[in-house]
Amino acid sequence: MNKSLQKNICCIGAGYVGGPTMAVIASNCPELRINVVDINEDRIKAWNSEDFSKLPVFEPGLENIIKKQRGINLFFSNNIKECIAKADIIFISVNTPTKTKGVGAGYASDLKWIESSAREIAKYATNHTVVVEKSTLPVRTAETIKTILNSSEEEYKKNLDDKPKKTFSIVSNPEFLAEGTAIDDLQNPDRVLIGGDDEYSIDSISDIYRNWVEPSKIITTNLWSSELSKLVANAFLAQRISSINSISALCESTGANINEVAQAIGTDTRIGSKFLKPGPGFGGSCFKKDILNLVYLCKYYGLNEVGDYWEQVVKINDWQQQRISSLVIKNLFGTLSNKKLAVFGFSFKANTNDTRESPSINISKNLLQEGAELSFFDPKVSEKQILNDLEVKNYEGKVLVYDSALKAANRADAILVLTEWDDFLNLDWESIYKVMRKPAWIFDSRSFLNKKTLKLIGFNMWTLGAL
Ligand code: NAD
Ligand code: UGA
Repeated sequence: MNKSLQKNICCIGAGYVGGPTMAVIASNCPELRINVVDINEDRIKAWNSEDFSKLPVFEPGLENIIKKQRGINLFFSNNIKECIAKADIIFISVNTPTKTKGVGAGYASDLKWIESSAREIAKYATNHTVVVEKSTLPVRTAETIKTILNSSEEEYKKNLDDKPKKTFSIVSNPEFLAEGTAIDDLQNPDRVLIGGDDEYSIDSISDIYRNWVEPSKIITTNLWSSELSKLVANAFLAQRISSINSISALCESTGANINEVAQAIGTDTRIGSKFLKPGPGFGGSCFKKDILNLVYLCKYYGLNEVGDYWEQVVKINDWQQQRISSLVIKNLFGTLSNKKLAVFGFSFKANTNDTRESPSINISKNLLQEGAELSFFDPKVSEKQILNDLEVKNYEGKVLVYDSALKAANRADAILVLTEWDDFLNLDWESIYKVMRKPAWIFDSRSFLNKKTLKLIGFNMWTLGAL
């Protein structure tokens, strides 16, 4: 099959990374034709939905780009074979979760979706194809991908000597977007990282980004530095959160205030002010899995002390969730049976509908196990998702999901705020107070509500990192 003159891109994986990233590339590069493919038919159907509220990923600004580009130079399809065959460049954006069984279970990344993507590419690609690692991967994964692709090259050469050669080069181009700000992060990245060992491929990927990213922000490295930098960036970010959360507990014991401490240390330009917000622990699909993967790699290379150092970041995160659950129980007289708690916020952070590894899941399960009845309100997470995440069959009749904060708070003994949605700052707290059982508690695990005003209304307040 001949590749056309217009450059063709294929992205394998139409998830939180593949969808938004390709949408932003499409909007900045009208000369590219981009096919985003997935094995999941429902996901592709949702990306192609005429009802834009049904797009599978909620991100501020995403809907507008999809409206403009879809069907112009951005296409979503299940036709993996054809889209691979036409592609000059293939981005692999498939999931890389933690292995649940076998060697490295609980730590190493499960690369089976990477391997199946590589095998599909090996089978269907034509002529020369640049294969781009967009997923987050253990350092030296490119070696595995190369082996799979090269074996197909060998086969091809053996069987079809007179045909044009099928060749590949591999580039690492990890993604640094954060959910909730994905479009802005993609449009104005701090940097774009491209690792590779051949100039032509690095250039062909740089060319794409140069359409809207300043050349000084495009960093090129060798393959292994690029792969490793992604894991290390996430580990450093998560480490800041565990650091501030560990100090939040000390503030509660001493009368210091965590927001004041964060401001005091964050104004030191060497420390910086970002990623110092205390909370119920980091969630999201990546921090935990990427650190555990880093721990696995360290131990694999015999660096046990280094592995132990990074594992502590995850341990503090688990401890913070446990600590918050215990504090709620303690303040509600040591028992939750016959008590109703309203949980405000279920997504792992504001401005996303993603609930993967959300601290709300573990904390809610802890409270359910203590006998509480829980009523949920989240501006973006569906009832189906909440019931699914909580494996609600185990807690028959104990979990209800509402479409308003007021309804969720009705007859509740306490409100537990777990996600920092702006909407929660502007709720009609007086009306909420009126419909609750007294004494009415608010547990502010994000330390962001106006404690003074809420206390004046009559609430008992517990605020993370403050007395
Ligand atoms: P996701 O689960 O939302 O999407 C992955 C998609 O790949 C799924 O729809 C799945 O069906 C599809 N898929 C798997 N195997 C396939 C195959 N062989 N052929 C076609 N489709 C296939 O995952 P995500 O959140 O988009 O993350 C993807 C990668 O990007 C991960 O490695 C993750 O660590 C990394 N990452 C994620 C984020 C984030 O914010 N979510 C940010 C940066 C990097
Ligand atoms: C994170 C990184 O920020 C991205 O750079 C990276 O690309 C991505 O992981 C990934 O590899 O998946 P994301 O998980 O989407 O992005 O969101 P973050 O804003 O980093 O938040 C992660 C978690 O940390 C959330 O639960 C958030 O509430 C929490 N957090 C964040 C805090 O508790 N305090 C903070 O100061 C910042």
